Amino acid sequence: MNFELLALAQTDLTQEKTDALLVILTSAFQPGQDAVSALIAKVSQSGDLPAKAGQLLDIYRPAGFACARLVLLQTDAASASDVRKVLSAAVASIKASKPTQVTLLFAQDPSPTMLRVALTALADASYVFTTTKPKAEARTIDTARLVVADVPGLQAAFDQAVAAVAGIELAKEWGNRPANHATPSKLAQAARALSKLPRIKCKVHGPKEVAKLGMGAFEAVAQGSDEPLRLIELSYNGAGKSAQPVVLVGKGITFDSGGISIKPAAEMDEMKFDMCGAASVLGVFRALADLQPKINVVGLIPACENLPGGHSVKPGDVVTSMSGQTIEILNTDAEGRLVLCDTLTFAERFKPRVVLDIATLTGACVIALGAVRSGFFTADQALSAALVSAGESSQDLCWPMPLDDDYAEGLKTNFADVANVAGRPGGAITAAKFLQRFTGAYTWAHLDIAGTAWKSGTAKGATGRPVGLLLEYLMCCAAVNTTT
Ligand code: BES
Ligand code: MN
Ligand code: ZN
Repeated sequence: MNFELLALAQTDLTQEKTDALLVILTSAFQPGQDAVSALIAKVSQSGDLPAKAGQLLDIYRPAGFACARLVLLQTDAASASDVRKVLSAAVASIKASKPTQVTLLFAQDPSPTMLRVALTALADASYVFTTTKPKAEARTIDTARLVVADVPGLQAAFDQAVAAVAGIELAKEWGNRPANHATPSKLAQAARALSKLPRIKCKVHGPKEVAKLGMGAFEAVAQGSDEPLRLIELSYNGAGKSAQPVVLVGKGITFDSGGISIKPAAEMDEMKFDMCGAASVLGVFRALADLQPKINVVGLIPACENLPGGHSVKPGDVVTSMSGQTIEILNTDAEGRLVLCDTLTFAERFKPRVVLDIATLTGACVIALGAVRSGFFTADQALSAALVSAGESSQDLCWPMPLDDDYAEGLKTNFADVANVAGRPGGAITAAKFLQRFTGAYTWAHLDIAGTAWKSGTAKGATGRPVGLLLEYLMCCAAVNTTT
């Protein structure tokens, strides 16, 4: 999907030959003298479009306009969720006519955040996954033109939104692929493909190298499957060699059956999404290549399957992590933290300024925060504030969770330095406490995206979150630190 940004002053909307002219109205809109204003005034007088957020009026071949249809969308300018809902309704309303081109007009210029929300919502509403369903009706919209009054003021937000959409759609593609179409090796190929883009490099480590690194926890998870593990290493070099990178670590469990501690059958298919952290890292690199910010970023992805079998790790087994700490694996379904802990140790060699790990880590986080906000954990106040703020401005929201040491009590065991599970209470936090033991060498935050990375039910599918949040965080890092 291509996007164009046009200046209102240079656009004759009556002559705009588009399949659908979507006009986003807000209650504060003051109609001017132009043709669109006249139409809006007529409509609001008639009462056909109540001034209530979420209302929509789809007009077929409006007199005096070259567009095939004009859709008026009533929103509350301040509500991202309103803008998303009404745009998704508009896309559904025009879908039958198979539009290839749409033009989005903001009756009143949006904030940079709302412009990004609108653009990502439009992409989201028209997204179709076709890789394993070739007969599915693919997206028909190939171009979306955005008309605003202040182009220079909104250009940066527009560029970032366009890059975010490309990243989000890459993350969705890999998240949505079933596990047999997204094996660790295939995920590694997807990362390799990114190294064709400017300033991106990719290295892939296999089982031998991972054994040599001493990643006993990662190996323990992978050993139950015939699919060989991959440790994927991406780098984006936008700043000088000496600039310390931000390291992103994405959980890449391409299928999580639970292993010997096997999961119930219902909804087990959704564990193909257990690599959405990894997919978000791929998506961020895709977007970085577009935006070319002055920052260094490393992406690390431990990728493997978690399966039961004759070679599987068993409850009670003790393994030695790359850090030297021994781990008693009491529950083989708590595998995410095992692949992550070794990768977090591996991250030390990049001398990171910050490490963020992104993981569909716990069902407990879904219970705590639902599908609205991702949970994050960090002991660093500045990083915490930066993540909350990046969440707000990308409207890919997150929320801080606690890391009190008392939460780690349940991880104590007589048989190893640490157990991989505590009890059920505070499960998202005890998982974070486990990870924290491996992050002493740098500033770190853990993002639990178990509730936000995909949707269940009829709308089942990856969301591409938190690509928008991570990208916004990185762009802010680049803006603050342009010299190093
Ligand atoms: N990938 C799951 C977490 C998950 C479960 C995400 C359901 C979204 C929906 C993770 O590997 C897992 O199985 N976690 C266990 C941990 C438990 C054994 C301590 C969980 O959350 O039940
Ligand atoms: Mn699991
Ligand atoms: Zn998992």
